[in-house]
Amino acid sequence: MKIVVFDPRRHRRTGFACGHDGLDDYLKRYASQTLRNRLARVYVAEDDEGKVLGYYTLSAASLGCDELPESLPKYPVPAVLIGRMASDRQARASGLRIGSHLLIHALKQALRAADVIGIRCVIVDSKPEAVAFYRRFGFIPLTEDGLKLYLPVSTIKALDGRDD
Ligand SMILES: CC(C)(COP(=O)(O)OP(=O)(O)OC[C@H]1O[C@@H](n2cnc3c(N)ncnc32)[C@H](O)[C@@H]1OP(=O)(O)O)[C@@H](O)C(=O)NCCC(=O)NCCS
Repeated sequence: MKIVVFDPRRHRRTGFACGHDGLDDYLKRYASQTLRNRLARVYVAEDDEGKVLGYYTLSAASLGCDELPESLPKYPVPAVLIGRMASDRQARASGLRIGSHLLIHALKQALRAADVIGIRCVIVDSKPEAVAFYRRFGFIPLTEDGLKLYLPVSTIKALDGRDD
């Protein structure tokens, strides 16, 4: 399994099914448009034949003052947003840990961005049933419903063995 930038001409995604029609539809119908319009980067986990096993999207974002917890400053904070993440149900069953690989890839991409521009944290808009998945990686709930979560870049750097 490899994680690469989504290429609509090459990646096979017709049978992709993660359990959420909206996330499946997005990959099949809207992901290429999103890429073209530079609204997000879309990364896919692919097998040797270019079949999509999972994907996620990454964009720039800003957290408004009203969304910020005590631990963050009281002015808008630049962030990287993981807008969508999904793994194919069938592929999931084969124990490839696609979600973990995608999430770690996303966090590394965020670190790369944070080396170039100011990024304070990674945020994610989660489905209710996936909150526990993000919490396992240390994400902290931002909103009362717990569906928006964040992970400080300083935490990711520490996990990556960096102290800069
Ligand atoms: C959430 C999702 C991306 C996780 O991907 P995955 O391929 O199942 O992830 P992994 O196999 O790497 O799982 C890593 C660990 O998290 C656990 N896990 C996976 N999904 C979980 C969930 N929804 N809640 C809690 N734990 C979860 C796994 O059991 C595994 O645990 P282990 O380390 O004890 O074995 C995937 O389940 C999915 O596509 N769900 C449907 C769409 C969705 O909800 N997307 C996220 C919101 S945008």
